[in-house]
Amino acid sequence: MEAKSFCGLDFGTSNSTVAVPGRDGVELAPLEGGSRTLPSSIFFDFANGAPVFGRAAIDAYVQGVDGRLMRSLKSVLGTALMDETTRIKTKTYSFKDIIGLIVARLKRAADEASGRDVTQVVLGRPVHFVDDDPAADRRAQDALEEIARAQGFTEIAFQYEPIAAALAYEQKVRREEYALIADIGGGTSDFSVVRVSPEGRARADRASDVLASKGVHIGGTDIDRLFSMKSVMPLLGLGGDMRLPFSDKAISVPNGFFVDLATWHRINLLYTPKVARDLAELARYALAPERIARLAEVIESRRGHSVALAVEDAKIALSSAGAATIDLSEVESGLSVAVSEETLHGAIVDQLGALSRTLQETLAASGLSGERIDAVFLTGGSTAIPAVRAAVTGLTPQATIVEGDMFGAVGLGLGLDAARKFGSDNAMRAA
Ligand SMILES: Nc1ncnc2c1ncn2[C@@H]1O[C@H](COP(=O)(O)OP(=O)(O)OP(=O)(O)O)[C@@H](O)[C@H]1O
Ligand SMILES: [Mg+2]
Repeated sequence: MEAKSFCGLDFGTSNSTVAVPGRDGVELAPLEGGSRTLPSSIFFDFANGAPVFGRAAIDAYVQGVDGRLMRSLKSVLGTALMDETTRIKTKTYSFKDIIGLIVARLKRAADEASGRDVTQVVLGRPVHFVDDDPAADRRAQDALEEIARAQGFTEIAFQYEPIAAALAYEQKVRREEYALIADIGGGTSDFSVVRVSPEGRARADRASDVLASKGVHIGGTDIDRLFSMKSVMPLLGLGGDMRLPFSDKAISVPNGFFVDLATWHRINLLYTPKVARDLAELARYALAPERIARLAEVIESRRGHSVALAVEDAKIALSSAGAATIDLSEVESGLSVAVSEETLHGAIVDQLGALSRTLQETLAASGLSGERIDAVFLTGGSTAIPAVRAAVTGLTPQATIVEGDMFGAVGLGLGLDAARKFGSDNAMRAA
């Protein structure tokens, strides 16, 4: 019988990775061409119904292929949307089915890279899928487990994503140190205080080395939403007034349409005949009907993800420049909006505060003062934002800042954890 094989699987809100045993230890598997990350995106081509994944999914959508793009599906885990179904042409899918297609795609890559049927997996999970609701959090993990089982994984374990990142970081340390691991991704921000050491790599049970872990449901997709609400949505009517018949009092236009359009995993909910009718009605009473007409046009032409991609591009540009332009020519020829670092920071002040508070709580729970932390290990795409980075590194004055592999550290650490749980001793190191 073929030997069993294991992998670590980081199903991320924005990007996914898989780590498998290679010749020289655990390594990230190629997922899309030579790339070792796969954007967690799926596109259903209406002409043939076949799903495509990753960059190919986003490209198909951007090129205007008739179909439906979905991103940020991890955000649905643990919410009421989980059990809802969506019709894609003639087929009905639940969100679980759709996440299952992505997990199947990742498993195939793991099988190919290791030349085996990979049945053992350590799945990453944020410290909280859902804030302050242990029952919903449990449902989210159970749903992910059920999805993984349906795709052929038979032995399934979970690990906190920041602990996985700590295991990846530990591969590099030369002496014992207290490390603060900060993983700020697309959906969640997770912190752990961990004792790492060269000797620790070989120990099977690391519970006593994990001093604290905390997380909060804030990530790059929330930043995209808040930034969009501040910069782009006003051009589509947000914040404007309307006057209903037989009333001389102006009231604000409802903001639900804008929240949905600015939230990656809710965009497709707007593509219904009812929303089209509601917007036609709204345009009649709005004081700036031309703006509502733009909103209706974006929805009618299914360009919601284009707008969100333009906002995300500008956010990323602002990580290395003081100013950027959000190009909205897809919405209306010549339309764009200038944004600056201040616009972005202004939109996320509350979230930066919440990150600092969660970090303070993590340090308090660890029993260590900020001065005792030797290293801050940064991973996750949102750590590239200067204001986020400042919030995360501001409480640990003695620490060396270590930039991890922004998109690969968690997946690699999950693979190392899988080697510990399922593999042989010599598999327990990174290639
Ligand atoms: N240079 C950059 N500046 C700012 N944000 C960035 C940059 N690069 C990527 N991002 C953002 O990082 C996020 C994705 O990060 P990452 O891939 O670590 O998340 P994830 O692992 O998929 O999410 P999670 O772990 O929360 O489920 C996206 O919101 C993306 O816009
Ligand atoms: Mg992540």
